[in-house]
Amino acid sequence: MEAPLKVYKGLEGIYVLESALSLLDTENGKLYYVGYDVEELVAKSSYEEVSYLLLKGKLPTKAELEAFVEKLKGEMQLDEKELETVRLVSKRSSGMDALAAYFVLTGRGLVDDGSPMDQAIRAIGKAGSVLGNVIRIDGGEDAMYPDPSLGVAGNLIYLVTSRKPEPYQIEFLDDILILHAEHGVPASTFGAVVAASTLSDVYSSIVTGIMTLKGPLHGGASEAAYQQFVEIGDPNRVEAWLEKALSERRRVMGFGHRVYKIYDPRAKIVKAMAARAAAIAGGRVKALYEVASRLEEVALTKLAPKGLFPNLDFWTPMVYTAVGIPPNYFTAVFAVSRIVGWVAHVLEYWKDNRLIRPLHLYVGPPAGQKYVPIEERH
Ligand code: CMC
Repeated sequence: MEAPLKVYKGLEGIYVLESALSLLDTENGKLYYVGYDVEELVAKSSYEEVSYLLLKGKLPTKAELEAFVEKLKGEMQLDEKELETVRLVSKRSSGMDALAAYFVLTGRGLVDDGSPMDQAIRAIGKAGSVLGNVIRIDGGEDAMYPDPSLGVAGNLIYLVTSRKPEPYQIEFLDDILILHAEHGVPASTFGAVVAASTLSDVYSSIVTGIMTLKGPLHGGASEAAYQQFVEIGDPNRVEAWLEKALSERRRVMGFGHRVYKIYDPRAKIVKAMAARAAAIAGGRVKALYEVASRLEEVALTKLAPKGLFPNLDFWTPMVYTAVGIPPNYFTAVFAVSRIVGWVAHVLEYWKDNRLIRPLHLYVGPPAGQKYVPIEERH
């Protein structure tokens, strides 16, 4: 007898591709990019170097990194025409939508410009400069020219705050960008690869990735976690808030992960950063951190036995706030960072492309329904 057909809802536990980009060690709570422990990369590397690692599959020599950074700096520039496009997309939309709209509007003109690798590097360079300006415009400022000499992280903070960032702010955002750069095939990367498998172009894959990252079950969780800390407001209110939330079957945002059933290795690193950010920045960051710390403590007693632990989105709100990113833009910063993961997967997938076309199990009415003219239907 034939086995009944099975639908793998959410593709849980299904391998959909081979990749040499990241290893999620879900037993020991470790994450590796191309074999390198992400904790070591955060401590010793930069977002630029990690981008090279993911795109080229090896760490660069000094000369290779210098050449790569020079190329990236060139792409981080926005000329007057590009700034005009940023103003246009910012007028009609904001956040992730504006970032995606920029790539929709400019992508067509760029698909024939350079190899897919060139286009990937261009997208990584442009993204932070575009988003920084989108945030400026949303805050009532005019667009301005980027400062690529500050690097991807520093330039983004500079555009958002109109000030040369403090070294600790650059370090924080650079670390956050490294931690968000790649993570196997979550929904957004899978979306990007599905688009690429049709032999669409690099920019179309990025747009698909951005729009798929947006939801609160994926990248949007950091914004939702921030709102949750604000809603709680005070560490003394955590117990009552949690009891009510769980009784209403609400989810603790920033808790749980489809793949990690132990503490997310990225969250461990961001937790330490959030503590440092609270100590350095004080004020609002400290207040948020105190609520988050208490919530973690209380929520773990209820959720850890179910394999639910903080993910990185639980702790990033404090770090984003310390570097000046407004809460409604947390997810868009995640997108800027993850572009490298998306394009690295796309380039890898194209080495042996196969159109992604799964099947659906039909459960509708039997075939052969009689078409009744509209006048005779009731
Ligand atoms: N708070 C409370 N209960 C939860 C939570 C949570 N955050 N997450 C899962 N559960 C419960 C869920 O209600 C269910 O309980 P029961 O079996 O009693 O019905 C059980 O845990 C299993 O839930 P699930 O939805 O089947 O688990 P999943 O593997 O599909 O969920 C998740 C993964 C990330 C969607 C989920 O944990 C969640 O919604 N978390 C909150 C949103 C969040 O923080 N997302 C960020 C993910 S990490 C960053 C990224 O990759 O973008």
